[in-house]
Amino acid sequence: MAEKKHLLGLDGVPREEIEAILNTARSFREVLDRPIKRLPTLQGKTVVNLFFEPSTRTRISFELAEKRLSADIVNFSASTSSVKKGETLIDTVKNIQAMKIDMVVIRHSSPGAPHLLSRVLDANIINAGDGGHEHPTQALLDMMTIREKLGKLEGVTVALVGDISHSRVAMSNIHGLTTMGARVLVCGPSTLIPREIEKLGVEVYHNVDEVIPQADVLNILRLQLERQRKGLFPSLREYHNYFGITRERLEKATRPLLIMHPGPMNRGVEISSDVADSEHSVILEQVTNGVAVRMAVLYLLAGGQSEIN
Ligand code: CP
Repeated sequence: MAEKKHLLGLDGVPREEIEAILNTARSFREVLDRPIKRLPTLQGKTVVNLFFEPSTRTRISFELAEKRLSADIVNFSASTSSVKKGETLIDTVKNIQAMKIDMVVIRHSSPGAPHLLSRVLDANIINAGDGGHEHPTQALLDMMTIREKLGKLEGVTVALVGDISHSRVAMSNIHGLTTMGARVLVCGPSTLIPREIEKLGVEVYHNVDEVIPQADVLNILRLQLERQRKGLFPSLREYHNYFGITRERLEKATRPLLIMHPGPMNRGVEISSDVADSEHSVILEQVTNGVAVRMAVLYLLAGGQSEIN
């Protein structure tokens, strides 16, 4: 079986490769503003979207990216498949491959599920979120948005605030941002920050009011209640009081902060509505950039040439 390219995570992905994806995404972003938003790039390629966990943004964004590049698309939902009858992940995907497909986008609750597929399938595999491990296209669209708004990543201070322990978005952002030369702060209750995370090149804080004056960007993360064991913090109200990003808290910023959130948001918990909808929020621009980033990843994995600055 010929060696295929994959996007399984950002851990270990070199700076030039991240830059190539972001530069290519910038070109595709322009296509999204055209009256006719379709390119023939992936004509004849078949992409399967395998979603074993709920998703709004990532699933729709990948599907739109594939459609914009003229791929043939198959959408798989675990809840209506033979997984319900006891079929394993490997058997499911081997059956799908037998129908002659080229690329697989997978979201799964088990860390490492995309890596497993990359070893058994003759297809390009893209990780759309594997448990609490990585969510590389989310971090790429976050980096694209920061670069678009602030003009660079090198030297920018990005604070990831919230449930760092259970967040695949945090892990991919840490790998990607540190590779690109950003300063990364993580902030949350000690029960929601992994031990020895400093070894990944980040600074740890437990007081959000110390972080706000230092940051250029706040990337506010949801409490991943579905992955947490009980008792990691007293109550949602207390979490909001100590870590919720509110307009009053942002008044302590020494300069306007870029407000980001990967979604889905829990308004009134990790972010107040007035901050989510404020003039400094780029949350919906992140979503738009997500389509361009996913077009770039699909295009490059399929053998396209990157845009080099
Ligand atoms: N950001 C993100 O992964 O959102 P979804 O869970 O809706 O895909």
